[in-house]
Amino acid sequence: MEIHDLLFRFLGSGHLDKKFVTDNVISFTLSGRDTTSVALAWFFWLISNHPNVDSEILKEIEEKSKTGARYDEVRDMVYTHAALCKSMRLYPPVPIDSKEVVIDDVLLNGTKVKRGMAVLYHVYAMGRIEQIWGKDWAEFQPEKWLECGVAWRGVATEKWRLVAKDSFNYLLFQVGLRICLGKEMAFLHMKRMVVGVLKRFKVVPEKRENGLEPDFVA
Ligand code: HEM
Repeated sequence: MEIHDLLFRFLGSGHLDKKFVTDNVISFTLSGRDTTSVALAWFFWLISNHPNVDSEILKEIEEKSKTGARYDEVRDMVYTHAALCKSMRLYPPVPIDSKEVVIDDVLLNGTKVKRGMAVLYHVYAMGRIEQIWGKDWAEFQPEKWLECGVAWRGVATEKWRLVAKDSFNYLLFQVGLRICLGKEMAFLHMKRMVVGVLKRFKVVPEKRENGLEPDFVA
């Protein structure tokens, strides 16, 4: 049987130093586990309250995913991708992140920061700023991340195409040198999970007697 797990791929790409490989596999495993599971928990919660989004995803699964396992199948599932982006904007798996200042510096807005200070950015709050995301920022509308694919002479080629968002407004995966190394893998993994679950189950919201909704603790 051929093995294609992460460890196998590291070793196969020429990384033979035991410490390097161990550190990286642990880092990938820890970084990838809680983030994607938290993202999916909130995603399914939103889906359970938005049957219109659920049925649009089901249509996409029907059209594009025969097995739900192949990379090229889930890669093209743009509506599901947009729904995940939108869900993680409202409920980011890494809601707050911090950095330590290594040299005295001045931020773009004029704020002076001194060596040793901690600088925090609040992804959860940033995902809810009306000036960035508009008055309807709280709505779960994946269409906001999509546009119709219009080709030569106005003939639509495909129903949806992803609209790129400014990564500095959508800091979910960080940007630049510290960008999440597993970003693409995260989407691939989550889309496969979404296909696997929604193909078999209808996700329904739990009826709570006290009427309370789940609380997001950042
Ligand atoms: C929705 C899921 C995920 C989110 C929101 C997320 C978010 C992030 C963020 C914000 C960072 C930067 C931390 C920092 O330096 O400040 C990061 C780093 C990292 N992520 Fe993810 N991540 C996700 C999934 C994954 C997955 C699935 C993997 C691997 C399979 C992964 C692997 C890593 C690694 C290795 C780093 C460290 C990069 C470095 O040291 O510069 N992540 N992630």
